[in-house]
Amino acid sequence: MTEAIELPQFPFHRTCPFSEPDIYHRSRSESPITRIRMVDGRPAWLLTRYEDVRAVLNDRRFSSDKAASDYPVFVVGQKEGLDKSERFLVNMDGAEHAAARRAVISEFSTRRIAALTPHIQLTVDEAIDKLLELPRPADLVRAVAMPVPARLTARLVGVDHTDDGLFQDLTSRSVRHDLSAEERVRFAEEVRAYMDSLVTAKMACPGDDLLSRQITQQRAEHGEVDVAGLSSLAVLLMIAGQETTAETIALGVLSLLTHPDQLAEMTSDPDKVPLAVEEMIRYFTVLDFGPPRLATEDVEIGGVLIRAGEGVVANIYAANRDGAVFSAPQTLDVRRANARQHLAFGYGPHQCLGANLVRHELRIVFETLFRRIPTLRLAVRIDELTFKNEGLIYGVQELPVTW
Ligand code: HEM
Repeated sequence: MTEAIELPQFPFHRTCPFSEPDIYHRSRSESPITRIRMVDGRPAWLLTRYEDVRAVLNDRRFSSDKAASDYPVFVVGQKEGLDKSERFLVNMDGAEHAAARRAVISEFSTRRIAALTPHIQLTVDEAIDKLLELPRPADLVRAVAMPVPARLTARLVGVDHTDDGLFQDLTSRSVRHDLSAEERVRFAEEVRAYMDSLVTAKMACPGDDLLSRQITQQRAEHGEVDVAGLSSLAVLLMIAGQETTAETIALGVLSLLTHPDQLAEMTSDPDKVPLAVEEMIRYFTVLDFGPPRLATEDVEIGGVLIRAGEGVVANIYAANRDGAVFSAPQTLDVRRANARQHLAFGYGPHQCLGANLVRHELRIVFETLFRRIPTLRLAVRIDELTFKNEGLIYGVQELPVTW
């Protein structure tokens, strides 16, 4: 038998919203760097310890170039869906990545995100107003968790509000596991065509948004606009920010409704909300596919030699459940003093650009929701819920609530 047949198949599926897959805690204690099989049948290394995951994510000898032939494949059609000629921030390495990141980082500064507070508050209040108008029980995912991040990212990037529905649909499709390679390619083309026309429209008629500012900046620096590059950036921001944030909101609300002591602790003082938000981001770590990396040189990590050309999965979910860093890691504890040390936003050069936005948004969502609807409760038993467990972004399909 070949190694590829015997190895555990990645991605691993969660059997319960609150517990990690068995392989993670087994691996952390017995064999923290272990072999797994990716969806294309090729082997890769799975890293489950906090220290090792952080080391890989912060080591430039591990590449993020998803178009590379040896790059670990975690979803069918991953490579076919990539246009080899275009470069995304998340797919870049080294100096190219640093320059692309520098061009947009000011859009996500604490100051710029803080300035969005009135808009975030208004968006959250409008979603809650709509929730309160619905017949009970109402689905919190559709009413709040999905539309709030969609509207906020749309506003930031410069996508028209009326396109929210289209983007929610596109982003939910992009993280589905069951798309064929052809569907993934078609989907990528559809999104691409939409964004190309948006960038072109903004070149003629700029607004007060990220895309328009990037257009002005590029014209000033290079005398021309990289339409394809800006279109890729816009797609990345819309997709990266949607499902991840929506699922963290939905799972966060679920966890608070099922852990009333934690909810009481969080709502006892608005100053406690930021720490509670960090803990929910740690506890759920919704990204289930790694992130993966490709070794470009031989590197020793945690006593294991990873050879050039081998793939690794730096598993941030397993790392965030590492008892060496987080005491009682399987317990949701909104008072956890070091919750902010989590790796749910990644680490090192590719650390999530949207982290400030997510933190601010989640604080406003949780604070406002439980202040405005103190009697909010689940309308079904937890075992009646259906979870999105496809190994990409973890989440809950619907969250029926009443009040
Ligand atoms: C709970 C919500 C979110 C989570 C858990 C999350 C998680 C992550 C993780 C783990 C990475 C690192 C990927 C890697 O190392 O390969 C990442 C990167 C990124 N995220 Fe997020 N993200 C969230 C929301 C957002 C939002 C709201 C935005 C923007 C609107 C965003 C934009 C990005 C971008 C642009 C990158 C790539 C950065 C780079 O490659 O330099 N994310 N995110």
